[in-house]
Amino acid sequence: MTENTDIPFFELVESMRAMRRLKPDPVPMELIWKVLNAGVQAPSGQNTQPWKFVLVSASEPKAWFADRYAAAMEDRFGLSRDSEKRGVSRRRGQLRAIYHQMDHLQDAPYLLLVCGERDWPFKVAEKDRVGLAPPNYGAVYPCVQNILLACRALGLGAALTTMHQVFEDELHEYFQIPKEFGVVVTIPIGYPIGNFGEVSRIPAEQKTFLNQWGVTSSQ
Ligand SMILES: Cc1cc2nc3c(=O)[nH]c(=O)nc-3n(C[C@H](O)[C@H](O)[C@H](O)COP(=O)(O)O)c2cc1C
Repeated sequence: MTENTDIPFFELVESMRAMRRLKPDPVPMELIWKVLNAGVQAPSGQNTQPWKFVLVSASEPKAWFADRYAAAMEDRFGLSRDSEKRGVSRRRGQLRAIYHQMDHLQDAPYLLLVCGERDWPFKVAEKDRVGLAPPNYGAVYPCVQNILLACRALGLGAALTTMHQVFEDELHEYFQIPKEFGVVVTIPIGYPIGNFGEVSRIPAEQKTFLNQWGVTSSQ
């Protein structure tokens, strides 16, 4: 699918799936700036805008990242890097897509590292602040969501990933990311192989109580 910025908002939201199969075809930088500028429209506490991006497009760092990502998937989830050892019988669609992403991450035109400035939550008293503060997740996630929606609007595939946390120290060193920032999310971006489809979610009516916990709209 090519650029289509005319998708009605609700259709956009309802079809913004994790797109893990990406074509290696180049994506114009102009589109990436659109995506990133949608990201930075997000709200943040006191408008501090504590996000920074590392946009990786060069082959060597992408291959470096992909190698560690696959190792982390194997280590944490037992997803074998060796396709011979995976077995084929009961592999579900999402798992197949995860394997595809694991095998082809280096081929995505872009890997976007979304970083957040570290900050202590208010409830952590100053005397209890030991070591590094966590990255400002609360502010970074609205930015990430805007990025994912903008990708969808432009016909770009993208998927939120967090597995880099397993090798975050190495990641910091490799990309020279200062300690004051944590890498919150990594988003591979490219034109999708396959179609955008409706997401599968439990309707809000089944997740909502009215006035008091436990009271649903059907009561
Ligand atoms: C906090 C968070 C962490 C996630 N981490 C990963 C991840 O490491 N790898 C991945 O492939 N998807 C990751 N996802 C994407 C989810 O797996 C995905 O949104 C969910 O399975 C629903 O699938 P869908 O978006 O395709 O409908 C993450 C999503 C969130 C919100």
